[in-house]
Amino acid sequence: MNQAKIKRIIARSAGILAALLAVLLFAAGISAVICNRHIKATQYDVQLDGLEQSVRLAVVADLHGKVYGEDNAPLYEKVAAQKPDVIVLLGDLFPPHFTEADKDYVIDLTRRMQEIAPVYFAMGNHETSYTAEYGDGWIDEIRSAGALVFDEDWKDLTLGGTTVRIGGSLGHGYPFGRTHEEFEASADFKFLTEMQESPYPAILLAHWPDTVALSDGPRRWQIDLVLCGHTHGGVIRVPGVGGLYAPMQGWWPRFDYGEFQLNDGMRMIITSGLSGHDRVPRIFNLPEIAVIDLQP
Ligand SMILES: [Fe+2]
Repeated sequence: MNQAKIKRIIARSAGILAALLAVLLFAAGISAVICNRHIKATQYDVQLDGLEQSVRLAVVADLHGKVYGEDNAPLYEKVAAQKPDVIVLLGDLFPPHFTEADKDYVIDLTRRMQEIAPVYFAMGNHETSYTAEYGDGWIDEIRSAGALVFDEDWKDLTLGGTTVRIGGSLGHGYPFGRTHEEFEASADFKFLTEMQESPYPAILLAHWPDTVALSDGPRRWQIDLVLCGHTHGGVIRVPGVGGLYAPMQGWWPRFDYGEFQLNDGMRMIITSGLSGHDRVPRIFNLPEIAVIDLQP
């Protein structure tokens, strides 16, 4: 092959690559705009032993202070349209760089969700950071809004005609830098043991999938259903591959989004939540409300 022909082939290949890249960037840009405005509902069916009638949970997570449309109206409309029996607020409603006044956003959101259905409020890392900075007075206001707050504790509640143990934690179900003895003496271990030994079906609200999914968590624990957020679905999703990055798991996270059967009896659902991460927009990753139908 002569040199002129080789040069022509290289130039043509570079042109095709540049065109593909331009199409990809254009598609990513369009997707970022759509993902900034639209909310989908993703439905899951979960069978829970002992339940007498079905119960619908709407899970709202990782808003990071975002406001959809006028005063979040599209978000409330989307949640109300699901006709939930319970709304789970699953953490990181506060923005990452919060000010003291941001509690008003979270309290108002809780109040307005409570007008739609009873709210179960679990902490994310942004909530615990806010409490560390400004105290826990805001949590009393969440309770005054009518929500049940789950903060490293559990409650046995009547749901679907039976008793269900609901717990909320940001703990770790594996040593996580502690010795085996320290871990077994920890509040994390005690809490998860009480969830595991529940005589009733147990649902854990764990903002971090890490709480039970990482290390040997799936071998240690047996909790019927674990609901998580925090990953934002990997923020940018590569079609056919998965999420690009999740905090605490890094690049190409294994537990990025959707359903996972962690062991024979423990199912985990991770919602991708409702915002991007800091300045990184969601791409190919529509914000969502997870709608979970607990079935007898
Ligand atoms: Fe988080």
